[in-house]
Amino acid sequence: KQGCFTYDPGFVSTASCESKITFIDGGKGVLLHRGYPIDELAEHSDHLETCFLLLNGELPTSEQKTEFVNEIMSHTQVDDLLAYTLKGFKQDAHPMAILCGLLSSLAAFYHTDIDNNSQEDRTLVAKQVIAKIPTITAMIYKHGIGEDFIQADSTRSYAENFLYMMFSKGEKDYKVSPVLTRAMDKIFLLHADHEQNASTSTVRLSGSTGTNPFAAVCAGATALWGPSHGGANEAVLTMLEEIGDVSRIDEFVAKAKDKADPFRLMGFGHRVYKNFDPRAKVMKEACDEVLAELGLSDHPLLKIAKRLEQIALEDPYFVQRKLYPNVDFYSGIILKSVGIPTSLFTVIFALGRTPGWIAHWDEMLSSPLKIGRPRQLYTGSVKRSYPK
Ligand code: SDX
Repeated sequence: KQGCFTYDPGFVSTASCESKITFIDGGKGVLLHRGYPIDELAEHSDHLETCFLLLNGELPTSEQKTEFVNEIMSHTQVDDLLAYTLKGFKQDAHPMAILCGLLSSLAAFYHTDIDNNSQEDRTLVAKQVIAKIPTITAMIYKHGIGEDFIQADSTRSYAENFLYMMFSKGEKDYKVSPVLTRAMDKIFLLHADHEQNASTSTVRLSGSTGTNPFAAVCAGATALWGPSHGGANEAVLTMLEEIGDVSRIDEFVAKAKDKADPFRLMGFGHRVYKNFDPRAKVMKEACDEVLAELGLSDHPLLKIAKRLEQIALEDPYFVQRKLYPNVDFYSGIILKSVGIPTSLFTVIFALGRTPGWIAHWDEMLSSPLKIGRPRQLYTGSVKRSYPK
């Protein structure tokens, strides 16, 4: 049964829920979205088609896909008040701090009166948040570099429009490389959903109270920010840059094994996968394609990453603990080579994961809602009387 009941000896978390959206077999390195393997979706589908699949349970017909894409691209604009709010943030604020602030503000600008029990309302919210998060992400980037916001160009694809809003100055004939567009779309797709990870479980728990969906998505983003979760792609790049040269890899591998040292190899290991993260394989191929397109196949960071992966897959410490590269290991190299600053990496992860968050929220609200109430393993004092 593809329900989920999580019992973790570390702490009792009876996060019991049922979902039809994503299935993971961590031992075999299997990830299915509505039954379709992630590597087949990455090869044959695209991010918006996968969003449709996550939300509706089936791949769209070509007419449905055209209509869905047109609807998403028609909702890419954001309220001027949101732009005004963004400008209130310090220019050097961490992009995730700004994203969390803006996601909750969407509840102030849109659907303040949403009926969570209405499938029509829920579907509109899902389309709105999927459509607006690339615009918000690009605006956060532009705010950080002191440039004007670029209006979305709905004649472009979802990923191409994102890169246009990020790197153009608004020129209508601005050219975006098809290879970079495809790689960006693949990064969004590979992050779209991942069962009951910390951020998605947070969205479910928050949403189970009946709160505003934008607030529930904001809660998910706050969980994703941590370096053990979505913040890892940023931490991988920082680690690779700190290693600096393949000759220093052994020093860092030794640190990662040293129990007295809290250092861990970022981008390795996973709470569920005790085999290769299937997304990491696709990400590695995309990384090779992008760097080849940019003439950067000899990029020192790629050399360090590949050597580190080889060592980790051969070193008994990592092999015994089943520590394989995860989704974050190669994504940062792609993002950096596309020109995205490290500080924006987790925002990109949130952009990709938004369809999963809102699909789980919608699925949860499509059946009678029970507020989430995780229990605990009580290890405190037994009952005792107050001293007279
Ligand atoms: C994501 O849940 C999801 O689905 C998340 C995600 C998603 O799509 O939503 O897949 C996205 O969060 C991917 C993970 C990104 N995080 C990182 O790459 C950070 C580095 N990884 C580690 O922090 C760690 O691997 C975790 C947190 C990801 C998983 O930790 P676990 O499964 O709880 O492993 P553990 O802490 O029980 O460690 C088991 C052993 C320990 O050694 P021993 O005590 O047995 O001797 O493995 C060691 C750990 O010290 N270990 C590592 C390590 N990860 C675990 N040692 C060195 N480097 C590492 N990265």
